[in-house]
Amino acid sequence: MYHPGEITAGLGDLLFSPAVNDLFLRTCRGEPTERRPVWIMRQAGRYLPEYRAVRQRVDFLTLCKTPELAAEVTIQPVDILGVDAAILFADILLPLEAMGAELVFTKGDGPSFPHPVRTREDVARLRSPEVEETLGYVFAAMRLVRRELDGRVPVLGFGGTPWTLAAYLVEGGGSKQYEHLLAWSYGDPEGLGLLLDRIAETSIAYLRGQVAAGAQALQLFDTWGGLLDLERWRAIALPPLRKVAEALRGTVPLIYYVNGGAHLLPGLAELPVDVLSVDWRQPLSQVRQAVGPRVLQGNLDPAALLGPIPEIERRTAALIAQGRGGGHIVNLGHGILPMVPVENAKAFVDAVKRTPVP
Ligand code: CP3
Repeated sequence: MYHPGEITAGLGDLLFSPAVNDLFLRTCRGEPTERRPVWIMRQAGRYLPEYRAVRQRVDFLTLCKTPELAAEVTIQPVDILGVDAAILFADILLPLEAMGAELVFTKGDGPSFPHPVRTREDVARLRSPEVEETLGYVFAAMRLVRRELDGRVPVLGFGGTPWTLAAYLVEGGGSKQYEHLLAWSYGDPEGLGLLLDRIAETSIAYLRGQVAAGAQALQLFDTWGGLLDLERWRAIALPPLRKVAEALRGTVPLIYYVNGGAHLLPGLAELPVDVLSVDWRQPLSQVRQAVGPRVLQGNLDPAALLGPIPEIERRTAALIAQGRGGGHIVNLGHGILPMVPVENAKAFVDAVKRTPVP
């Protein structure tokens, strides 16, 4: 079991100002705070006119690979919404491209891998990349964000979990059923395990690079962890995930986000991470009961931000009350929807700031 006291400063803290608003980091460490910190998954994104203005000039991958622009859109929600943490603008799929998988983002369709990885031979063809060479643009953006924010709020780095990254790489993009992935998991679990392990190795180097560049916390996104039942999640998804988490332990606080993972709670309690971030389908009070004294993050229904502002305020207050009894970082249960009016997102952030810790 992991003890928050083991956390030492990220290397970046030797080079940059520490966070002035450290509500988020104090909460990650399990320390008491006067109010709950708040940030929003996908806070740098299409619901912001300022983001869309930048995207009119460059495509998505160019935006990720241009550190000045990535830094600019990372900071937009800090200025516009007043969130308590920034999350670096990038994408979980970038390290797969660095491993040699061609990655394209098409308008409206999202990401795709034209040459999916579905066999042991495909796995053998992947590279083990030198991350400074192939993903150095992410580290450069992180250094710029730390310099430009100058300690106003802490900055999160992030990555996908091996299982979720494999889901996109094996399927060739997003999918409803993930049939190729699941077929492989039943047909040749050891072969799929080789892929998960290769992804874990690259992820460790990539996430360490983000910490060296100044990331003050890391979030691991397991968007598709919920596809597996608990027994198979423990057997297939957990070992490579645990490897990543253990390799990063003692650097900066680690957050694990899982979507649709209510049935995985008994397994999540075993994960060596500081913060568990869950979707909106389960009340936080139940999550707390299942996982014990752990900092939680979440979990307003992203669709609630489409509702009228008084309703957003009412639900935010109820969420904060639900989170009592331990550390709580207020967030949505999944990424913000592109249709959300900016004033609604702001009403959510403001409501958190007005509410004392219950
Ligand atoms: O949170 C942030 O503001 C930081 C940036 C960030 C992006 N993607 C930018 C992005 C983060 C943390 C991610 C994580 C990510 N990327 C996940 C895990 C979180 C989740 O939502 O479950 C996943 C599965 C991806 C892969 C991905 N990237 C998909 C499936 C898509 C298409 C769907 C969509 O929302 O458009 C993307 C594109 C993407 N990543 C956009 C942004 C802002 C939209 C691209 C655009 O500008 O057109």
